[in-house]
Amino acid sequence: MTAYQLPVAAYSAPTVVFPSLLPATVLPTVPAIAARGVSMSFQSGSDCYQALKNVDLELRSGEIQLLMGPSGSGKTTLLSILAGILTPTEGNVYLLGQEITGMSRSRLARFRLENIGFIFQGFNLFPALTALENIEVALTVKGIRKHAAKKQARSLLEQVGLAEKANQRPRDLSGGQKQRVAIARALSGDPKLIMADEPTAALDSQTGHAVIELLHRLAKEQNRSVLMVTHDARIIDFADRVVNLEDGALKQKPV
Ligand SMILES: Nc1ncnc2c1ncn2[C@@H]1O[C@H](COP(=O)(O)OP(=O)(O)OP(=O)(O)O)[C@@H](O)[C@H]1O
Ligand SMILES: [Mg+2]
Repeated sequence: MTAYQLPVAAYSAPTVVFPSLLPATVLPTVPAIAARGVSMSFQSGSDCYQALKNVDLELRSGEIQLLMGPSGSGKTTLLSILAGILTPTEGNVYLLGQEITGMSRSRLARFRLENIGFIFQGFNLFPALTALENIEVALTVKGIRKHAAKKQARSLLEQVGLAEKANQRPRDLSGGQKQRVAIARALSGDPKLIMADEPTAALDSQTGHAVIELLHRLAKEQNRSVLMVTHDARIIDFADRVVNLEDGALKQKPV
């Protein structure tokens, strides 16, 4: 049975119940992310290093979850697998109810484009493009026409409070402003799933806090699911759940 089907008890009910008549708590909800038995080994020469060991992880729809753990524990490796950037040695990954492990490269690329907003640690903005153009180009890649892309890019910049910086290039923006452009770009195309690898690592604590507050507000107001790798214990208050990786294995603990 996959994670998002009704429990067996619901199937064995004596009468047929239409899903819309079931109480909300019984309705099957598709997790935003479900990882089952994910392991990852890296081969270098004759050595094999096991970076992830049989990881099961679930991110519920609308949830903000933090992935924490010491340096080298496998956080970036896991996030990359969950985003379809790396293929695990073993295990299955389901995003929004679809299995991505085993998807063809072209289908996976399209799926990622349509469903995942990824925020990189180092912002990854194009230095030659303005803040507005950095977002516009992401929308154009998603198939949105130029005029509409410009309009949506403006609206996204407004959402992150940077409308007045639209024509500035990354080198003329502060770290927090660059991170906000990166968030606006991750929101382009309206993805339901946001993944972020240490989005506050390059920021001072006050700016980092403001960036997380923004991400939290956007996620909750727009019902997006967020999985965030962080070392920053001060942002635990913004999370619905915290999971810890230790030496490639997951230790869950409630917030
Ligand atoms: N391509 C690779 N080839 C070999 N080993 C790798 C590769 N990528 C990662 N590793 C190893 O896997 C382990 C986990 O790396 P990962 O980058 O996932 O850690 P992390 O938890 O994100 O650490 P940090 O907090 O420092 O970013 C490390 O020991 C790393 O050296
Ligand atoms: Mg990392």
